[in-house]
Amino acid sequence: TDKYCVIGNPIAHSKSPEIHAAFAAETGQDLIYERRLSPLDGFAATVRELAAQGWRGANVTVPFKLEAAGVATRLAERARLAGAVNTLLFEAGGGIVGDNTDGPGLVADIVRNAGVALAGKRVLLLGAGGAARGVILPILQEGPAAIVIANRTRATADELVAHFGAHLAHAGQLSACGYDAIDGGFDVVVNATSASLGAALPPVPATALKPGALALDMMYGKEPSPFMAFAAGHGAVVRDGLGMLVEQAAEAFALWRGVRPQTAALLQRLRA
Ligand code: ATR
Repeated sequence: TDKYCVIGNPIAHSKSPEIHAAFAAETGQDLIYERRLSPLDGFAATVRELAAQGWRGANVTVPFKLEAAGVATRLAERARLAGAVNTLLFEAGGGIVGDNTDGPGLVADIVRNAGVALAGKRVLLLGAGGAARGVILPILQEGPAAIVIANRTRATADELVAHFGAHLAHAGQLSACGYDAIDGGFDVVVNATSASLGAALPPVPATALKPGALALDMMYGKEPSPFMAFAAGHGAVVRDGLGMLVEQAAEAFALWRGVRPQTAALLQRLRA
């Protein structure tokens, strides 16, 4: 039986074991998937111990995604560009591959689950931290007309645009602004800030939402976030981050096992 886990701190609330157990049952894969609490100052040691003990891979969550990029001996391009890793593969020879399935998970949730194509669309990304970095390349690859990154600290958004511009030939659709300079309507608005954790609302103007726009908060909880409530109040179609969570897990499962599980029934069950 192959062993996988999710590493974080805290980790008790993680839904990943439930999600991967459902995927394993659905695809007939023989594996176990556990939660692993890592000391805040012991992430690298935790990873190396798991790899040495023959575990096959791990997901990485808060606050270790940036550190995980440093622990990997090889990085997938999307993880290297994001500077963040949420999926580790432990190879037989001792290699540790780092990948990032958060972006593909977000795109799958938007395109497949919400049924909103991103090609030719105007996308507004709120926030310029780790969560935002992780999703930029996969969104760009869908061919949007524009991705505008709005951040409270404007300089951080500028740095992100410069970083992607320096590494990608096709980053011309990417630009940055402050919240006060958000201009025009967007088809899709993604909240990648950590504002929802503190029950805060990023200062996005209602005019940013085209009629019927999709507003997605990467966070999820029992209640809609302030951002979701705001967007719904201005006519947007709203989504929380649960679909993205399930889809990033499906992408990780596919990397590890070579088979992509179905997600629709599980997502429905988790919402019920
Ligand atoms: P994460 O890994 O979740 O992205 P992070 O790297 O700490 O966490 O980034 C948090 C993001 O949320 C940042 O873009 C932050 O804006 P600043 O760069 O100006 O700090 C944004 N953020 C946090 N609280 C916010 C709030 N109340 N309103 C708007 N943006 C907020």
